[in-house]
Amino acid sequence: MDKLLQDHRKRFGEFEVIEFVDTAEIERLRDQIEVDVPMQLHWTWEYGSEVAELRSLYEKGKVNQWNAELDLDWSLACSNDEWLMNPQASMLASVLQMMGRDEATQKAAMFDEINYVLSQLLHGEQAALQLCGQLTNVCDKMDEKWYAASQVVDEARHIEALSKFMQRKMGSIYPIGSTLKILLEILLEARTAQQKTLGMQTLFEGMAVGIMDMMRRDCRNPLLTEVIHRIEQDESRHAAFGVLMMRRVVRDASTEQKAEMEDWAFGILEALNANQQLDMLHLLGPKYGIDPKSVVQLVTSLPNFADLNSMPYMHTVVPNLRNLGLLTERTRERWLKLGMMTEKKPAAA
Ligand SMILES: [Fe+2]
Ligand SMILES: [Fe+2]
Repeated sequence: MDKLLQDHRKRFGEFEVIEFVDTAEIERLRDQIEVDVPMQLHWTWEYGSEVAELRSLYEKGKVNQWNAELDLDWSLACSNDEWLMNPQASMLASVLQMMGRDEATQKAAMFDEINYVLSQLLHGEQAALQLCGQLTNVCDKMDEKWYAASQVVDEARHIEALSKFMQRKMGSIYPIGSTLKILLEILLEARTAQQKTLGMQTLFEGMAVGIMDMMRRDCRNPLLTEVIHRIEQDESRHAAFGVLMMRRVVRDASTEQKAEMEDWAFGILEALNANQQLDMLHLLGPKYGIDPKSVVQLVTSLPNFADLNSMPYMHTVVPNLRNLGLLTERTRERWLKLGMMTEKKPAAA
């Protein structure tokens, strides 16, 4: 498989990045809101349960529903003159500290960075909502349709919680990053249930769980901690759906099909990794006198780059892909080389 987003690749020292610099192109990408999606809808006449483990995940989802308006304490405050998270959790705050800038600026930059990350999670939630809607059509078993339908409600609630948090407490929602939009559309445009499930449920849901878990552990703001905690619990159920679905797909796949899925999964995450937050740095860097290229060069040349960079991947995606047999010796070196994985024992499956 060819690398994705070839036209936007360049070398920053040893590291190959994906970078968008043309603002007209970035706006054009964002303004494209109509997407042609080829889908094959399946009826089923089997209304009994055929996949017991999916049925019990569906039951679990029903029990764990929550209300974003009523179950969160919206009276709690959030402002840019507090440390929303541990200072080391913010790339911008860390860089500003190295530059000798005052603490108020560091806190404000962290606030903006978190606002940006939450915005990207929000746009990802919208993609998840739309993709699960598609799954209710393309899946062929009733258990799969039911679970996907229950996830649609979860994703709507995540959009509600995140958008309300940003609108009420942060004051803005940043636009979607170009790299993320292109990758999410690859999943939304994918023709088969297998690709959609692998891409969204296993890769992006898994990444979301990893990122949210790191954010929650570093978070110092009680309302944001609770928002992330509640969403993260639903997301782990969604990632589990991905594994249960993909386990059956992989079991029935030929060696060539497995290799194709393994390469495709790596290709999607490699492109995400190649952005190295440049979309965020281009948007917020100028406000704080930060040069995006220098930051990425600095970060990618750190001796512990792989340890830091691999954290969101190692949390859920790497263990799940390994368990599915979609991260084998064949691609292992590629993951290691790009700092998307380390040899350390994965945290959890
Ligand atoms: Fe979600
Ligand atoms: Fe989800």
